Amino acid sequence: MNKHSQSERIIIFDTTLRDGEQCPGATLNVDEKLLIARQLARLGVDVIEAGFAYASPGDFEAVQRVAKEVGTEGGPTICSLARAIKADIEAAAEALKPACHARIHTFISTSDIHLEYQLRKSRAEVLAIAEEMVAYAKSFMDDVEFSTMDATRTEPEYLYQVLERASAAGATTINIPDTVGYTTPGEFGALIKGIKDNVPNIDQAIISVHGHNDLGLAVANFLEAVKNGARQLECAINGIGERAGNTALEEIVMALHVRRQYYNLFLGRPAESEEPLTNIDTRQIYKTSRLVSNLTGMLVQPNKAIVGANAFAHESGIHQDGVLKNKLTYEIMDAQSIGLTDNQIVLGKHSGRNAFRTRLRELGFELSDNELNKAFVKFKDLADKKKEITDWDLEAIANDEIQQAPELFRLELVQVTCGDHARPTATVTLRTPEGEELIDAATGTGPVDAVYKAISRVVNVPNKLIEFSVQSVTAGIDAIGEVTIRLRHNERVYSGHAANTDIIVASAQAYVNALNRLYAALQDEKVPSSKSGIKEDSVVVQGVREQA
Ligand code: KIV
Ligand code: ZN
Repeated sequence: MNKHSQSERIIIFDTTLRDGEQCPGATLNVDEKLLIARQLARLGVDVIEAGFAYASPGDFEAVQRVAKEVGTEGGPTICSLARAIKADIEAAAEALKPACHARIHTFISTSDIHLEYQLRKSRAEVLAIAEEMVAYAKSFMDDVEFSTMDATRTEPEYLYQVLERASAAGATTINIPDTVGYTTPGEFGALIKGIKDNVPNIDQAIISVHGHNDLGLAVANFLEAVKNGARQLECAINGIGERAGNTALEEIVMALHVRRQYYNLFLGRPAESEEPLTNIDTRQIYKTSRLVSNLTGMLVQPNKAIVGANAFAHESGIHQDGVLKNKLTYEIMDAQSIGLTDNQIVLGKHSGRNAFRTRLRELGFELSDNELNKAFVKFKDLADKKKEITDWDLEAIANDEIQQAPELFRLELVQVTCGDHARPTATVTLRTPEGEELIDAATGTGPVDAVYKAISRVVNVPNKLIEFSVQSVTAGIDAIGEVTIRLRHNERVYSGHAANTDIIVASAQAYVNALNRLYAALQDEKVPSSKSGIKEDSVVVQGVREQA
């Protein structure tokens, strides 16, 4: 008998920390993963895929700490990915031990192209492995998810056989991934229906879907899957992930929320039912999106559905006129439903520490005493420059403070001269990981270029700046500017983020932030690209040096 009635709500499985983290430069350290996991719990996701425990000691630690600190009673289920290999399953089970509710997610490819070129195994062999490894995972815990990688390019009859065997071996969730983002909505819906009609024991498991957005169809594919019986959706915040990314959590959740009267019927509910289809607290969506973007350095495009800067802006005169007369003329959802406040002016220069802490708490930020002290200094500094401090300013300050990039090099000073008749020249002072203070200077094509060159003279690790972006947090000339950069070193991408009213200072801080991530990675790999990473002639400025 099906233990999960079809009128139940949709389960949201978040894979931001596993599949999402796989996009270039989105690498997160353990502390950053924990921050995101805590926010995902506040958002109300049912399952957090915290990583792939066997992949590296860092991944193991991340899964283990998320299991311990977020997988508490009443909290989400914590999950680790594992190939259908004993060692992977054992690592997942071990890392997940501290979680109150834990899940092993094991997978194997089933398409002929993967079998022939990647696994070099026959269909019969894969069938046997799937059954054996699900049973093995089951020996560690009851909650076991099984995925058939590249399911949408797998011959359906064979897929049905694999799913039947995995379900018989005890899989509680059966996941159908569109690994290469190849399927289309009608086709995907038909595949889910085919599974329901042709896998005799499918009712023993929940049908889940996992999608990639290569053709821009990931959300549409999921909606068709829901109509045909899928009850778990695997997605990532801001749609980050491999190549074109994973199905965007905020988009699929808001589609189900805004159009619930339409989807209610497919879940066996009366059309007019107001009962939410998911457990997501939609008012946490915007904050979660900002946190993931800041920590991964993956910017959200302005026209991105739901969380893009323009998603609730009305530019055309006709639209503005309509919205002023009645919001519903051009708005299908309320900005507040995703947690966008009215950007009220909340604090000013006379506001005290208590008011500051209280407002941050109301915005969902729990800062340590040390973080709060540093954030309060920034707030006072900002309040001196800017009369009115809004929630968005506070959020930028708090996000900047909770960043967990290692502070190996610290920017002590940055000074720039520039202008239409001056050669842009920057002087910087940095404190090295050993505590030494180094000064250097450089000229550049513009002030940011000069700053970057001066910093590069001190932190001597070759890299290529591949993305530089400045965004203002609020409107107005005195707004905080947020700088996000991505740089490449040896085929790997590192990101940096900083916020300041002075965009040159923010640029310098973002660069040091990214260099610290790069420097930490080099130290972890124990392959520093120069003796110490510090240029030896950077101690005293001898005059401004031209860069080669
Ligand atoms: O895209 C994919 O197939 C995956 C599986 C591991 C579920 O990420
Ligand atoms: Zn995937």
